[in-house]
Amino acid sequence: MEDTLLEVRHLKTSFLREDGTELRAVDDMSYTVHRGECVAIIGESGSGKSVSALSILRLIAYPPGLIKAGEILFKGRDLMKLSNEEMEEIRGKEISMIFQEPSTALNPVLTIGDQITESILIHGRVKDENLTEEEKKKYGSMNEKERAYALAEDLLAKVDIPNPDVRVKDYPFEFSGGMQQRAMIAMAMACNPDLLIADEPTTALDVTVQAQVLEQLNQLRREYDTALIIITHNLGIVARYADTVKIVYGGKIVEEGDVYQIFEHPHHPYTIGLIQAVPRLDLPRDHGLHTIPGEPPDMSKIPSNCCAFAARCPYAEPECSRKRPPLVKVDEGHFCACLHMDKAQEEAKEVLSDG
Ligand SMILES: Nc1ncnc2c1ncn2[C@@H]1O[C@H](COP(=O)(O)OP(=O)(O)OP(=O)(O)O)[C@@H](O)[C@H]1O
Ligand SMILES: [Mg+2]
Repeated sequence: MEDTLLEVRHLKTSFLREDGTELRAVDDMSYTVHRGECVAIIGESGSGKSVSALSILRLIAYPPGLIKAGEILFKGRDLMKLSNEEMEEIRGKEISMIFQEPSTALNPVLTIGDQITESILIHGRVKDENLTEEEKKKYGSMNEKERAYALAEDLLAKVDIPNPDVRVKDYPFEFSGGMQQRAMIAMAMACNPDLLIADEPTTALDVTVQAQVLEQLNQLRREYDTALIIITHNLGIVARYADTVKIVYGGKIVEEGDVYQIFEHPHHPYTIGLIQAVPRLDLPRDHGLHTIPGEPPDMSKIPSNCCAFAARCPYAEPECSRKRPPLVKVDEGHFCACLHMDKAQEEAKEVLSDG
């Protein structure tokens, strides 16, 4: 497809444990992200969401981590084949990432302004040839450092930091959690990346601030046509912002489709369980809240050639523990990996319609 931005093919990332066993955090994942698309990655804690994102940026440290196999085609170039210097060029400029904990990602001894301008200056964002016409009019008479600060202030204003000309000189500890997260967004957007990966960008924030942060992220995405990968547990966020959804379990994609397909026609028993677990206001309060019984799998114990969800699945048959179900097309753009999805989704129709 012409507007393909990122193609992850058969990505496998593992961690070597001290007892010598291998933990397959990402076990053969493939997916495509188009320009401007918002992709949500959903899955339980430990399912491999963060590791798959960090693998795209090649931020997996060896030992104990290792990207064992796969291609990461970004604008047609395989990032796995680039040198570290070439990769540095891409990080922050073409692909940037917002981390779950802003306080750990921000440098406490540098001002917010110094941190935003650092990336702007490293990547030559305010060199004459990289300025838009509008920016030329605004910053044309300044030197590069002044331009970088002016741009940093503009970016802080865009993410609704009050008095950006003053706050740009603040240290991270002088910002609230929500402001730190917004400063991270400003930093991530500083070089107009083609792809922004947001790993649980709002988990540490209270709900109203979460909504603001996401709205800003989404506005910036539209303004700059940035593709966005959002990693989250929150299905409400997914329903509001995502175009497409990848459901991850045990390091594998078990179902993918557009938002409508996933929410209205889920096929995988795990997806169905997730959707059922969302509290509903249209049902009586004494209606039991559905949970998925059992625990997330220990990925160093289950073999690769089986369904990782089998141990918790109400539809599992012995074959599910012997064979890895392939991702099968169930509709245009909708894929599911389950040997018994027909049965699961028949029942889901009833359960999801009336609770
Ligand atoms: N640096 C590391 N060393 C060893 N194991 C790791 C490391 N980072 C991640 N893992 C393991 O890899 C697996 C996948 O972790 P990952 O962080 O991708 O999960 P996640 O889906 O992002 O979970 P969460 O929702 O809690 O953020 C987990 O079993 C985790 O313990
Ligand atoms: Mg994570």
